[in-house]
Amino acid sequence: MSETFDVIVIGSGPGGYVCAIRAAQLGMKVACVEQRATLGGTCLNIGCIPSKALLQSSEEFDHTRHALVDHGVIVESIKLDLARMQSRKADVVAANVKGVEFLFRKNNVTWLKGHGRIIGPGRVEVNGATYDSKNIVIATGSDSVPLTDVDVDERQIVSSTGGLELDKVPTHLVVIGGGYIGLELGSVWRRLGAAVTVVEFLDRIVPTMDGEVARSLQRILGRQGLKFQLGTKVTAARKSNQGVNLTLEPAKGGDAEELQADIVLLSIGRRPHTDGLGLAEAGVALDDRGRVRTDAHFATNIQGIYAIGDVIAGPMLAHKAQDEGVAVAEILAGQAGHVNYGAIPGVVYTWPEVAAVGQTEEELKAAGITYSVGKFPFTANGRARAIGYTEGFVKLLADKQTDRILGAHIIGPDAGTLIAELVTAMEFGASAEDVARICHAHPTLEEAVKEAALAVDGRAIHI
Ligand code: FAD
Ligand code: NAI
Repeated sequence: MSETFDVIVIGSGPGGYVCAIRAAQLGMKVACVEQRATLGGTCLNIGCIPSKALLQSSEEFDHTRHALVDHGVIVESIKLDLARMQSRKADVVAANVKGVEFLFRKNNVTWLKGHGRIIGPGRVEVNGATYDSKNIVIATGSDSVPLTDVDVDERQIVSSTGGLELDKVPTHLVVIGGGYIGLELGSVWRRLGAAVTVVEFLDRIVPTMDGEVARSLQRILGRQGLKFQLGTKVTAARKSNQGVNLTLEPAKGGDAEELQADIVLLSIGRRPHTDGLGLAEAGVALDDRGRVRTDAHFATNIQGIYAIGDVIAGPMLAHKAQDEGVAVAEILAGQAGHVNYGAIPGVVYTWPEVAAVGQTEEELKAAGITYSVGKFPFTANGRARAIGYTEGFVKLLADKQTDRILGAHIIGPDAGTLIAELVTAMEFGASAEDVARICHAHPTLEEAVKEAALAVDGRAIHI
């Protein structure tokens, strides 16, 4: 007799593990299938967590090397121990993935170890054993997008996974793709001493972010030493013992040029992971980009099969996957699970960080919405001066007629933390005036948010 569950979740990333825990909290008998040796998915094992560990360590190194002297702190000699940095990163990852295992035990979630395949309505096969379930939640995440003629070997040409594992600082790292991964990992290796060139197909970086913020980020990263070749595509990569020879061509046509790298990082996006899941046999419909098609309640076209996270439409972000995991578990329990896709923040963890919620100026213009802009630079914020990080600004976009906040874009110190106030404001349908009237502690970076809200109405105090 096969074991029967109320819910089987396939995949234990932020979407899957959170869904499993929430479903168990709601009294369901839950199993989660994971083929990886550890729980936590892309995010905890090879994504968010290891990248943030290396970003922190490399920032400490860079700060000690270049910024401490301004504070009157003289460090006579500084040396990089990359092996130690990498082993700290591994410890951070281990603590997080073990944490999920602990939470599974605490909540009585059964971990079915191995590759899961849907073999019929309410039936999942894992390593030859069959399990029945009233509901199945697909949370199988995503993989990096390949590029023709640029073969990833995770040695000379790496994906983000290999890019997090280098045991030597490259002399010249060429990053293909100026998005989240390219800029975060490019920053890590630049700070540790590599020359870094980012080759981007479009004529701008971070295409989903506000254009003004993206231009500012490019300028600041440029000052940190990253080089950018925009409007350029890579058409060939030839490996040799000396490194990798790349052929670059202007995206809009023109003469090709060669670029030599010792390591190439391919980071041109991610695509849904559905291989070997049995979706075609089960009749689960995909959309035109290979994502599992779902309705507003995360239901696929097949009764009892749901999907969440990177494998469905929407931004490929861990917190979006987590919120969908909670929502689908609550829906299965007969509650009103819901995700507000208009208020999902996005953060690029470069230094300075870039954080955004809601619409960009470009999107508002395209939608024909009239808006007011309130901006405040960190150069005019007392705390930013005190800590020595004055690059960047807060930019608020509010509806011209109603003053309701439509978008918020921050580039600056701790932007990823500062954005939370504006996410909350948007969740509550706040106006710029509402934020401007909130008392903000002094001296804090948050005051820049208040000032930007005041600036929407042309009455910022400190500028
Ligand atoms: P995943 O985390 O991809 O998990 C899916 C899991 O399913 C995997 O463990 C996989 O092994 C398992 N699986 C797949 N198929 C099967 C099967 N058939 N049987 C059993 N198991 C299966 N997002 C952020 O919000 N913030 C960040 O700072 C951030 N940094 C990132 C850095 C990098 C380098 C990368 C690559 C991504 C980053 N992301 C970040 C994105 C984030 O990792 C994803 O959005 C998130 O992991 C998606 O969660 P998920 O649960 O949908 O899928
Ligand atoms: P991305 O979508 O962020 O950026 C890819 C970039 O590559 C884009 O600028 C795109 O125009 C460019 N590009 C596409 N094809 C190209 C080509 N042939 N040549 C040159 N450039 C090309 O994708 P990325 O950086 O791979 O990250 C994948 C996803 O993972 C992100 O979109 C994000 O959802 C998630 N992520 C989130 C992080 C965070 O929240 N801080 C950090 C890392 C990843």
